[in-house]
Amino acid sequence: VKTLFIVAHPHLEGSRANRRIVEAVKKVPDLSIHDLYSLYPDFHIPRHKEQNILMNFDLIVWQHPLLWYGMPPLLKLWLDEVLEQGFAFGEGGTALKGKKLLLSITTGGAESSYQSGATNLAPISDYLLPYRATANLCGMEWLSPRVFHHARRATDEQLEAFVTDFVSQLTQLCGK
Ligand SMILES: Cc1cc2nc3c(=O)[nH]c(=O)nc-3n(C[C@H](O)[C@H](O)[C@H](O)COP(=O)(O)O)c2cc1C
Repeated sequence: VKTLFIVAHPHLEGSRANRRIVEAVKKVPDLSIHDLYSLYPDFHIPRHKEQNILMNFDLIVWQHPLLWYGMPPLLKLWLDEVLEQGFAFGEGGTALKGKKLLLSITTGGAESSYQSGATNLAPISDYLLPYRATANLCGMEWLSPRVFHHARRATDEQLEAFVTDFVSQLTQLCGK
């Protein structure tokens, strides 16, 4: 399995969690890091180039901080441009069929804030439904998403535990 690790963070240099995760996954075999904000700072996404890149991978990871309950704008634009009808879905749109999609997000809110009656109103899985539907529309296999909550406040130990677990999952998937 070859992995395309797409990271979208508007300020990766000022990041704690996403930066650490990106650093750590570099040691996973057969994994390419695709840092959207450094590749396309002008928000011009070369659709066909990106589509051709995608074809070479079996596992696609989307790594990003949760921003306003969703994905950063450049990742959204990437979806709009790259997951084109006839390529990713619709008639003849089978390019991504059978590939695995693994979403990994970090949130500012604690896990306890993601429930009914709390600040963020609903469990995090509710907010991830559009991602899951996207994977489904494209015929991709939706893997259980990874969520690192309270990303700015969590202890170093919590971050390292998350990172170790994530790296070992990716390494295991890579051997399949
Ligand atoms: C514009 C903006 C919007 C955000 N929206 C949310 C949100 O909807 N829910 C949430 O839990 N955290 C939200 N946050 C917090 C980020 O998710 C958090 O700072 C990030 O996951 C930390 O990761 P990092 O250390 O890699 O930057 C937001 C942060 C910014 C800057």
